[in-house]
This record gives sequence, structure tokens and C-alpha cells, in this order.
Amino acid sequence: MSTLTWTPDLSVGVDFMDHDHEEFLALVNACVAASDADLPALFDRLYDHTVAHFAREEALMEQTGFFAIDCHKGEHGRVLAEMRRFRAHVDKGNIAFARAYVGDQVPQWFILHRNTMDSATAAFAARQVA
Ligand SMILES: [Fe+2]
Ligand SMILES: [Fe+2]
Repeated sequence: MSTLTWTPDLSVGVDFMDHDHEEFLALVNACVAASDADLPALFDRLYDHTVAHFAREEALMEQTGFFAIDCHKGEHGRVLAEMRRFRAHVDKGNIAFARAYVGDQVPQWFILHRNTMDSATAAFAARQVA
């Protein structure tokens, strides 16, 4: 299992996004480290955080008229649906399956997403303000 911790080199230059990314990674790591008994509740916290985190980015995209809003929102929707599928695996007792998802797939996804869509959204927003 890989773990990824937020460090300043992951900053996208927008404070609320950096805060969300730090919290996101802390919750991912808490899921990875959780006992089987604690994983369902922590997975729910990760999901609830992610819904709010994505909504805040989408509000920024709306405010700034970000050109790739549909692409970025579509990816958020895909990830939330994927999380709901893995949450259903937890309910069926496939704890190891869900743990592998949050420990491997989610961190890899986060880095790619941060480097592409989130960075582009933040850079575009900064240009609107300047
Ligand atoms: Fe994000
Ligand atoms: Fe995003």
C-alpha cells in the first residue's frame, strides 16, 4: 500500500483547494490504516469530504468561467460513482478490495488529477483575479 501525504510542493496556489487536498489525503491514509471495523465509517467520511471538495472546485469554475468545466465536472462525477461502487463492496464484506482501492488507485488518481484538471482550474482562476 502506498501512502501519500500532502506537502507544499503539491500546492496549486489556491488556499481552499490546498486545504481540501490535505484533508483528502489525510482521510485516504486514515482509510488505509483503519481496522476492518473502522473502515466503513472512515470511507463514508472520505466520500462526504470528496463531495464537498468537488463542489467547492465546481463553484470556483462557475465563478471564473473555466473553459474545461464540463471535463473537470465529468471527472468528479466519475470518481464519486467509483467511490460509491467501492463503498458497496465494503457493505458486502469485500474490505480488502476497498482498502486496495483507497490505498493504490485513489492516490494515483489524485496525483494525476491535481497535476492536470485541478492545476489548470487554479491557474485559470488566478489569471481571472490578476
Ligand atoms: Fe481537488
Ligand atoms: Fe478536481
